[in-house]
Amino acid sequence: MKLRPPASTESTESNSSTPQPLRRLLVAGSLLLAARAVWRPAIAQGKLRPTPSQTEGPFYPTTLPDDTDNDLLRQGQRSYAHGLPVWLEGTLSDVDGRALAGGTVEIWQCDHAGHYHHPGDGGKADLDFQGFGRAEVDRDGRFRFRTIRPVAYVGRTPHIHVKVKLGTRELLTTQLYVAGEPGNERDGLWRRLNAAERAALTLPYSAGAQGLQARCSLVVQT
Ligand SMILES: [Fe+2]
Repeated sequence: MKLRPPASTESTESNSSTPQPLRRLLVAGSLLLAARAVWRPAIAQGKLRPTPSQTEGPFYPTTLPDDTDNDLLRQGQRSYAHGLPVWLEGTLSDVDGRALAGGTVEIWQCDHAGHYHHPGDGGKADLDFQGFGRAEVDRDGRFRFRTIRPVAYVGRTPHIHVKVKLGTRELLTTQLYVAGEPGNERDGLWRRLNAAERAALTLPYSAGAQGLQARCSLVVQT
């Protein structure tokens, strides 16, 4: 709604029989009400949309690896040399856009052959692949991981599982997808996302100065 300036409002009512001081008061009151009507949606629109949540799935680690840092390509002294290495970078904020410093982002995913470090997946995952990692969010809300571009496994399009924690509180569990993957359209979990949710969770993987990279913006309600 566009507010009219007081002058034009008064000019259209110049023949009114209402006394001038009362008329001014009424005009001021109506402008205030109109301004509040405009301002409220503006505040609502100013909030960021929380990142959509998705199921944790069956393969969150039952036992965490000894090494739980943000480099999934090195597990202790072991190096992992399969798959396409990628930097997964992101920001974590609340719905007001404030960096969630002190938050923790966890990711877990299958190895290049589609196996998780999980008893339910038969213990077939490559021992050199860390498979799970944690990153502390810095004061600017940034985090990053070194991992591989996710691959498909039976029944699922490529994805990386994500969990956000603040202290002991779990604020978000979701999955991140790869833009342009033909398997997305056949994936039951991806298909149930609406357009905005797909946009939030489906990341382009592109060549950067440090190799393949993907970026995400995670927004949580605190
Ligand atoms: Fe999965």
